Amino acid sequence: MTTATADIALIGLAVMGKNLIMNMNDHGFTVCAFNRTVSKVDEFLQNEAKGTNIIGATSLADMVSKLKRPRRVMLLVKAGSAVDDFINNLTALMEPGDIIIDGGNSDFNDSTRRCKELAAKGFLYVGTGVSGGEDGARYGPSLMPGGNPEAWPHIKDIFQSIAAKSEGEPCCDWVGSEGAGHFVKMVHNGIEYGDMQLISEAYHLLKSVCGLSNDEISAVFDEWNKSELESFLIEISRDIMKFRDTDNVHLVDKILDSASQKGTGKWTGKTGLDMGIPITLIVEAVFARCLSSFKDERVKASLLLQGPKPKSENVANPLEHHKKLIDSIKLALYASKIISYAQGFMLMRATSQEYGWTLNMGGISLMWRGGCIIRSVFLGRIKKAFTTNPTLDNLLLDDFFNQEVARSQLSWREVCCTGIMNGVPMPAFSSALAFYDGYRCDKLPANLLQAQRDYFGAHTYELLDSRGQFHHTNWTGHGGTTSASTYNV
Ligand code: 6PG
Repeated sequence: MTTATADIALIGLAVMGKNLIMNMNDHGFTVCAFNRTVSKVDEFLQNEAKGTNIIGATSLADMVSKLKRPRRVMLLVKAGSAVDDFINNLTALMEPGDIIIDGGNSDFNDSTRRCKELAAKGFLYVGTGVSGGEDGARYGPSLMPGGNPEAWPHIKDIFQSIAAKSEGEPCCDWVGSEGAGHFVKMVHNGIEYGDMQLISEAYHLLKSVCGLSNDEISAVFDEWNKSELESFLIEISRDIMKFRDTDNVHLVDKILDSASQKGTGKWTGKTGLDMGIPITLIVEAVFARCLSSFKDERVKASLLLQGPKPKSENVANPLEHHKKLIDSIKLALYASKIISYAQGFMLMRATSQEYGWTLNMGGISLMWRGGCIIRSVFLGRIKKAFTTNPTLDNLLLDDFFNQEVARSQLSWREVCCTGIMNGVPMPAFSSALAFYDGYRCDKLPANLLQAQRDYFGAHTYELLDSRGQFHHTNWTGHGGTTSASTYNV
């Protein structure tokens, strides 16, 4: 009979899985590794895992027999049907009270469904966000677990031990029930899309309008990384900009300008639409990737469609010559980033209320402060804002962020004008500014919009002095007096 010695089993020996196992092993946990293609287990044991306490399994049944109770099994397999297949096979071998953890980028709606289905059979299900890429998985990821709360005491020690630490605190805490963990990871990814798009727009302006070379842009990013913009994504962009290929040519110049995506940004956008939350910057970032993928059509259009050519003068020292504009681009990026996070937190607040998850916004900021792709000094400030006021309606209403946007806004507006006049697309910079101006506007033109709806479709409107009461006007004199029925999307 096999002795049950393993603290946890991990299924899926791709990059993330292997590195998480090594990380758990470093922290004194005995991990049992398994993979659908079993030869990968042997390969792993003979290579990366050689000389460690990691053990392998030859089948799911073998793996289950090697686990201490309650059994903890973590899946790091492709999101979708593979997760359901493994869950079905595992529940046939495991016992009520055992725990199944999905660490992939699963759709949070699937995680909610799985959590309920497994709870009905007595199993404890956890859907956890794992962020930080290969290095994060190996040396300290940000972990966002949610699901059946009864599972948390059994996995807390492993999770918080292997997670990144920020100011001594683990970048991992219980997020909430059902699909809350995967939801928060999804919003993280949406924000990641936004941050990446903002940096790319800054790069476009620095290159096309300021005429900076790749090495000069790298130097600008290096400076920015010593400021309020200090973050993993600025840091890697700095390194990417100066990276030279084996032929000494900058690799970034050889890369096709057509961005891919695996879907989490799109899911965030769809959730924003479903919840009625204007996460405009994330959605623009997703669409910017979509537009970039029309490479051949764009090349044709570039020969046909008129527009200003970016005016980058040939100056001896562009860094010095464009110092003011470069500083303004930095502030535009900073202010847009504040909007992006304000929107992301709006979505989390609304969804949390909708599903009764009681998400802790300060806790989430701390989870994202280290280990993950969007880790930054900035998240420390967000943490502070929610610590000061845990029920803060909107990040923009926090004194610090309000003042930061106020001091950046003129530069931000100038940069948007410069981009527009030079024909440089800035969907994220400009939609962030449009959101800011909309959010701070006490009277939007939606009164006309409501009148139009009522005019052509008798959709009714409310009056400023009698909110909650709906009126219909016979605008043309030949329309009826009956209003259209009301339904919400
Ligand atoms: C992370 C990342 C990761 C994501 C990649 C690729 O937090 O470690 O978010 O989970 O899969 O960034 O995403 P796209 O292919 O959609 O850009």
